[in-house]
Amino acid sequence: MPTANTPASYGSVARAFHWLTALLILANLPLGVIAAEMPFDTAEALARKAQLFSVHKTLGVAIFAVALARILWALTQPRPAPLHPGRRLETFLAETVHWALYLSLVVVPLSGWVHHAAVEGFAPILWPLGQGLPFVPVSDAVAQAAEAVHWVFTKLLFASVALHVLGALKHVFIDRDGTLARMTRGTPSAGTPHRSPAPMLAALALFAAGFGLAWSLSAPAPTETARPAAGAGNWQVETGTLTFAVKQMGAEVQGSLPVWTADITYDPATGTGTVKVAIDTTQVTLGAVTDQAKGADFFATASHPTATFTADISPAGTGRQAKGTLTLRGVETPVTLPFTLTPDGDTATMTGTTTLDRRDFGMGAAYTDESQIGFAVTVQVALTARKAK
Ligand code: HEM
Ligand code: HEM
Repeated sequence: MPTANTPASYGSVARAFHWLTALLILANLPLGVIAAEMPFDTAEALARKAQLFSVHKTLGVAIFAVALARILWALTQPRPAPLHPGRRLETFLAETVHWALYLSLVVVPLSGWVHHAAVEGFAPILWPLGQGLPFVPVSDAVAQAAEAVHWVFTKLLFASVALHVLGALKHVFIDRDGTLARMTRGTPSAGTPHRSPAPMLAALALFAAGFGLAWSLSAPAPTETARPAAGAGNWQVETGTLTFAVKQMGAEVQGSLPVWTADITYDPATGTGTVKVAIDTTQVTLGAVTDQAKGADFFATASHPTATFTADISPAGTGRQAKGTLTLRGVETPVTLPFTLTPDGDTATMTGTTTLDRRDFGMGAAYTDESQIGFAVTVQVALTARKAK
């Protein structure tokens, strides 16, 4: 059994690569669709969905490795010539699909992997080699672009595989020629060599169009201002961030609440004052699980679109802190936020951090196991305010 290809036959290595890839792709395509469609409304459903995604990603990374090895091998080999090159449209179509399949074998797993590396949390790849990728930052923009590429090119891969299999079946049942036997048993069938760059160029054009589509899908929708709006009080917030971190399946996930207003009344002479913060919970982001964070189990943004924190500021001598009540998803809980204040002329910079227990607000009540979602949520506030004239 020859290992190498000849102009009339596929060798055993090329055939082993072909059928191994076919098997893995035909398993991972439906797995991706099923995992993406699975609900995640309960703790058990989320755990099952995450497990399936972990299998999908691990298999996908394995496919990537096999695909690279296969492509390197193909580069060293002659490609058996088509049996009916006279049928120009058919040959063009078949070869364009072959190029599209080769390109998909790189773009599909790589885009999935980049998406995975650019978001935090959720289903890990089941291996000890880490979850990030060099040169891929954790970033919403990168994640969205990679997700769009993965989405578009999985559809293109599906269409290419469907055309490819239909073509193979046509050779068996209509043409009754040796095309399939060449790829299954390796039986030689001499074709007529013909080399045209057109199929490769057509596949590249298709991919360029696919990237264009992915680009337009991932272009960020205009969002509401991420800056805190000005509030009443004698200090006006100029810039600020409100972020939080929680452990999900052992890995820390960063969240953000970008839209809020703060009414601050503060007397530097006494170091006392009051603060009232209103937070738009509908704008919350939390890595790959933003939709879930907005759901009824967590921020419940549909029924509780606003959270408030009303507190008194106590002076530096007693340890600077804002002590009051946080109302989140309709539940009122006493909260103390220790902070530091750095005055600079008419402005002052404040940073504070505190740790909350999500259970105090009935958040994620169904998730009683801390290994899935941690109980402790670290909240960080940083803002610069200017004293009103
Ligand atoms: C189970 C369904 C499949 C069948 C029946 C099938 C059949 C075939 C046959 C008969 C050939 C040889 C064509 C020729 O000699 O001109 C071929 C080539 C090829 N197949 Fe498949 N295939 C299947 C699935 C796949 C999948 C899932 C992929 C990859 C995603 C794939 C990628 C390729 C590539 C890239 C070639 C060209 C190899 C070359 O000449 O370099 N096939 N396939
Ligand atoms: C050749 C290998 C792969 C194939 C055939 C494949 C296929 C798919 C498919 C069909 C979907 C469903 C898309 C939809 O919503 O319609 C999907 C989703 C997804 N895949 Fe893959 N995938 C592969 C590799 C990977 C890899 C290596 C990773 C990560 C390491 C990955 C991560 C994901 C993620 C995170 C989603 C969900 C995206 C979303 O939320 O919209 N995939 N994949």
